[in-house]
Amino acid sequence: MATSWLLLASLSAAAAVHLPEQDEFHFRSWMSQYNKVYSPQEYYERLQIFTDNKRRIDKHNAGNHSFTMRLNQFSDMTFSEFRKSYLLSEPQNCSATKGNYLSSNAPLPDSIDWRKKGNYLTPVKNQGPCGSCWTFSTTGCLESVVAIGTGKLVPLSEQQLVDCAQAFNNHGCKGGLPSQAFEYILYNKGLMTETDYPYNAFEGPCRYSPKLAAAFVKDVVNITAYDEMGMVDAVATHNPVSFAFDVTADFMSYHEGVYTSTQCHSTTDMVNHAVLAVGYGQANGIPYWIVKNSWGSSWGMDGYFLIERGKNMCGLAACSSFPVV
Ligand SMILES: *[C@@H]1O[C@H](CO)[C@@H](O)[C@H](O)[C@H]1NC(C)=O
Ligand SMILES: *[C@@H]1O[C@H](CO)[C@@H](O)[C@H](O)[C@H]1NC(C)=O
Ligand SMILES: *[C@@H]1O[C@H](CO)[C@@H](O)[C@H](O)[C@H]1NC(C)=O
Repeated sequence: MATSWLLLASLSAAAAVHLPEQDEFHFRSWMSQYNKVYSPQEYYERLQIFTDNKRRIDKHNAGNHSFTMRLNQFSDMTFSEFRKSYLLSEPQNCSATKGNYLSSNAPLPDSIDWRKKGNYLTPVKNQGPCGSCWTFSTTGCLESVVAIGTGKLVPLSEQQLVDCAQAFNNHGCKGGLPSQAFEYILYNKGLMTETDYPYNAFEGPCRYSPKLAAAFVKDVVNITAYDEMGMVDAVATHNPVSFAFDVTADFMSYHEGVYTSTQCHSTTDMVNHAVLAVGYGQANGIPYWIVKNSWGSSWGMDGYFLIERGKNMCGLAACSSFPVV
């Protein structure tokens, strides 16, 4: 009796004051889960950052929010480190002040999910520490447009875009935009497959081989900046759509639910991450987009996330586009 009472008392004290041993215990189990190894000096630095991240996550999850957060592969990084390695490091000016998308003006369904309509989306990929999100948004979109048109789903090459698309204002691991990447594929007359030109997460010489071109673009459709209804129309009546938005610190630790933020920017010159809208819906009165990310399938909701729809949340309607094949 006495021992178990003591144990209970010490457990609740630990929960209240965050004993350093407890932080270290959490850190060590996270390290083994993600196979992390540090030098003795780095260990203490990463422990501190991890503990700060964990406190923020616990605090967020204790509140009343439309999404939850959790520890993941990025939990030993500060947001500024994360931004340098994973986001578009050069500001992208993506404004399509006047797009060329013509809305259908048809009645649209309340929800759509291209993942469930057929075999149109490749498994979630992982960009690694390279600001190449724009290439994954591009291949994800082109893969789906080709698959919807032909019934054949073929994984396409991000690395070709990283290495070869510079003339269209793209910058390899330092950033780019899907609309500019579609332009590159159009004028280059082809994109190779993932198998023929595999991803390695750093920029090298262009190794494009025209005879291995596997996917083609006939035209690029840009949806007018901030026309989020145009995006809904395009996803409902055509195919998934590439878009960019502003990622801020809490998004790094997103787990599930509908992401919203009051911290992010919403203008065309502040977007720092490109992704793929594969559907939309509504939960508990909040309309959302269903979005494919490129941070591996263990991040977020099996590699996907939901973000609030209808408010240009974090600039998501600033620059959206898709290819015609
Ligand atoms: C949580 O937030 C929602 C939406 O703002 C609100 O409707 C609900 O009443 C809140 N619940 C609590 C327990 O505060
Ligand atoms: C972005 O482009 C628009 C239109 O070309 C221009 O008006 C604006 O000044 C640019 N912004 C930046 C930050 O370059
Ligand atoms: C679409 O956007 C790309 C990249 O910004 C641009 O080069 C192209 O001219 C745009 N196309 C149309 C039809 O506006």
